[in-house]
Amino acid sequence: MARRKKIYEGKAKILYEGPEPGTIVQYFKDDATAFNAEKHDVLDGKGVLNNRLSEFFMLGLNQIGVPTHFLKRLNMREQLVRSCEIVPLEVIVRNYAAGSMAKRLGLEEGQALPRPMVEFSYKDDALGDPLVPEEYIISFGWASQQDLDDIVALALRVNDFMSGVMYGAGIKLIDFKIEFGRVYEGEFMRLIVADEISPDSCRLWDIETGAKLDKDVFRRDLGSLTDAYTEVARRLGVLPANTGAPKPTLIN
Ligand SMILES: Nc1ncnc2c1ncn2[C@@H]1O[C@H](COP(=O)(O)OP(=O)(O)OP(=O)(O)O)[C@@H](O)[C@H]1O
Ligand SMILES: [Mg+2]
Repeated sequence: MARRKKIYEGKAKILYEGPEPGTIVQYFKDDATAFNAEKHDVLDGKGVLNNRLSEFFMLGLNQIGVPTHFLKRLNMREQLVRSCEIVPLEVIVRNYAAGSMAKRLGLEEGQALPRPMVEFSYKDDALGDPLVPEEYIISFGWASQQDLDDIVALALRVNDFMSGVMYGAGIKLIDFKIEFGRVYEGEFMRLIVADEISPDSCRLWDIETGAKLDKDVFRRDLGSLTDAYTEVARRLGVLPANTGAPKPTLIN
């Protein structure tokens, strides 16, 4: 069999050409990076967990009518997605102050925000993905006003969905980052949720204890990252089948 063509290798994933035009295979690596890749480690099993979790969230979004790139999971580490033209923005939705926002404004981490807030950073590793206002995005042509309106509306729907799913699992969704892509259908362009949705790109706190269940465990050396992600997957019922305990068989 011919070797697959690698399209891109990033910090957390590898993209390969998919079996059909317009498709891509996303391979989830075990690598964890933080602070713009200054901190790096390989954490056994992280890729498997993120592949499963991203599938779970994207499938749920597809089901409630939020379009995503997800087509199907192929195996433990790979999923088939629609190829799209990535909008060069990280779209961040915040429900509680944390991370860079808490730092910038001198807010206490965990403080509830008056309402969910959406902010954008420009995807450029060399610049450290700087926060950018809408004015920059439109003026530099990274997205149109109409695109931005659609992106904000979709991002808020993703937030409602993710907050609800997490709440049901005893987890508070503090904030998250998503990426959008453009797909073309005839003369029409549509925005879809792309990249991944996983504990790598969310802040998740246990509602009862406040324990962190996301990449901050790695950023701040708070313990085992894979244990935290496994806990999220377990609570959501999406643990890989081969790590679950065998089910008892009813005999009557
Ligand atoms: N459906 C898609 N079609 C095309 N590109 C995609 C799609 N989904 C995600 N991508 C892109 O694939 C890459 C995924 O790799 P990874 O997340 O490891 O990158 P990264 O190291 O975080 O770099 P980047 O700063 O580009 O996100 C990202 O650049 C992301 O924008
Ligand atoms: Mg990425």
